[in-house]
Amino acid sequence: MCGIIGYVGPGPAAPAIVGGLQRLDYRGYDSAGIVVLDRGRFRVEKMPGKLENLLARLKASPLAGTVGLGHTRWATHGGPTQRNAHPHVSGNARVAVVHNGIIENHEALRRRLRARGYAFRSETDTEVIAHLIEDMHRGNPLETVRRAIAKLEGSFAIGVLFRDRPDVLIGARLNSPLLVGFGEGANFLASDAPAVLPLTRRVAYLEDRELAELTPGGVRIVAADGTPREPRITHITWDYASAAREGYPHFMLKEIHEQPRALRDTIRGRTDHSIPHFPELEIEPAKLKRIRRVVITACGTAAHAGLVAKYAFEELARVPTEVVLASEFRYGDPVIGRDTLAVAVTQSGETMDTLCAIREARARGALTLAVCNVVGSSIPRAVDGTLYTHAGPEIGVASTKAYTTQIAVLELLAVRLGMLRGALTREAARPLLRALERVPDAVEKALRCEAGVRTIARRYRGARNFMYIGRRYNFPNAYEGALKLKELSYIHAEGYGAGEMKHGPLALVDNTFPTVAIATAGRVYEKMLSNMKEIEARGGILISIANPGDARVRELSRHVIEVPETPELVSPMVTAVPLQLLAYHIAVALRRDVDKPRNLAKAVTVE
Ligand code: AGP
Repeated sequence: MCGIIGYVGPGPAAPAIVGGLQRLDYRGYDSAGIVVLDRGRFRVEKMPGKLENLLARLKASPLAGTVGLGHTRWATHGGPTQRNAHPHVSGNARVAVVHNGIIENHEALRRRLRARGYAFRSETDTEVIAHLIEDMHRGNPLETVRRAIAKLEGSFAIGVLFRDRPDVLIGARLNSPLLVGFGEGANFLASDAPAVLPLTRRVAYLEDRELAELTPGGVRIVAADGTPREPRITHITWDYASAAREGYPHFMLKEIHEQPRALRDTIRGRTDHSIPHFPELEIEPAKLKRIRRVVITACGTAAHAGLVAKYAFEELARVPTEVVLASEFRYGDPVIGRDTLAVAVTQSGETMDTLCAIREARARGALTLAVCNVVGSSIPRAVDGTLYTHAGPEIGVASTKAYTTQIAVLELLAVRLGMLRGALTREAARPLLRALERVPDAVEKALRCEAGVRTIARRYRGARNFMYIGRRYNFPNAYEGALKLKELSYIHAEGYGAGEMKHGPLALVDNTFPTVAIATAGRVYEKMLSNMKEIEARGGILISIANPGDARVRELSRHVIEVPETPELVSPMVTAVPLQLLAYHIAVALRRDVDKPRNLAKAVTVE
């Protein structure tokens, strides 16, 4: 998720823009830049790394100008370099653009613009927008952008500056947030409220495909067809900190609720024509086709996503798959060869255990691939190819949206591998891809369980132990639910395959602690019920996650949390939601430091 700030007014523009960039830093970024229009010329400064690098540059050479745009970049296409940093200026320096989102058809547009003589200087999809707008400009900025965005597919929030119009700033959005801030004699564009709070509390959030034309004296909003729209001005009452969390009390809760958007952004553009495809993957299909086994290596929550993927790879691609904890991987003597695909799953891309493991796999001849949320981080730079989750920055130490988007990417990869290996026909793949496309909506519905989960959390916040059980695709979620509770509330919890209970853990069961049972539809639903009966018969307290109206689960359970029914393959992304919310609300009830639990770090960059 990138940050956007724009200013048009009596000026100077730079201080307002710099202040906005500083207030956007919580969004995470790998580079930052600014453009102002000064006496008919664009003045651009952009730097990789921390915002301080850009500020130092501006101190050395201050920018004049009364209209401008600023941007903090969270890389999705192209590494975090100066060349790829925004703003991007068009071929003849008539247009400057900043962008948050992903343009899915950027390659096709790039080819068409190259044919029209445009040279590209960066690897970004954003640069395409700058050249396209210049190429289509016939004098009216708002009209030009309106026609240009009709050619864009994917997601975008853009700010656009025209060299011939020092009094105008244009904004437009589709699937990425953008707002207009109303000042006194000046107006602002921003990706979200914190950027403009000291300047104004009067904002209007643009709707999808709406455009805004900002001048010092006013704001005009139009729909995609040019129809004028009345600005829907709201008054922001948040302080800065809660505005950064978009009003949520913690980043973790915001990120739990961001999962539908994160999943949409991760899946979008990867299931077209019923074949999963990954434009960013630099591994040719023939190499993937040759692999004979998969080894997934990761830590913590990422390892749990790997365990879900094991079921998918073996079921859909018919390829033997094992999951090895990265912290153990190289201290054994792993049997790795040229026929092995080694997959590193990691949100941060900086986990030292995982980095060392995947380097070891590569040294032993494996084809190496990463599933990662941070473009340009260490692990993507250490492998043959990377598939990115598009979850946006994950600030809370407890991983949530990264987890569900990792599962989505790994399951897409399993379908792709299955088709490459001839284990899955296109006809058989189609319903699986449809199921993945529908996951964001199912997660949206699952989030409605929050009020009920909060009640359960308050009731059991005093428990000293929890057990979590699940089977098949939801077996890893037993581990994940237990981990979330441990790391957030400091309550001891264990995750088990439900079938294991009678091999020992059942001895623990009594009425002093709850067992969370994941009992949604699937191949082993009946088995799950009988495992739950073993617990209920011994006075165990069952908190069950079930599909709507499941009377059989309800009969066994003290509490039932309902989530939409989905094919078993994709159900872990849905059943993860109540597990995350339960851990979150127990931790809140215990007044824990939810976003920064004791003893933990967001990225464990030491062994
Ligand atoms: C998850 O909630 C934990 N914070 C932790 O287990 C995390 O998943 C693990 O450290 C791996 O981090 P990575 O995904 O950045 O590699």
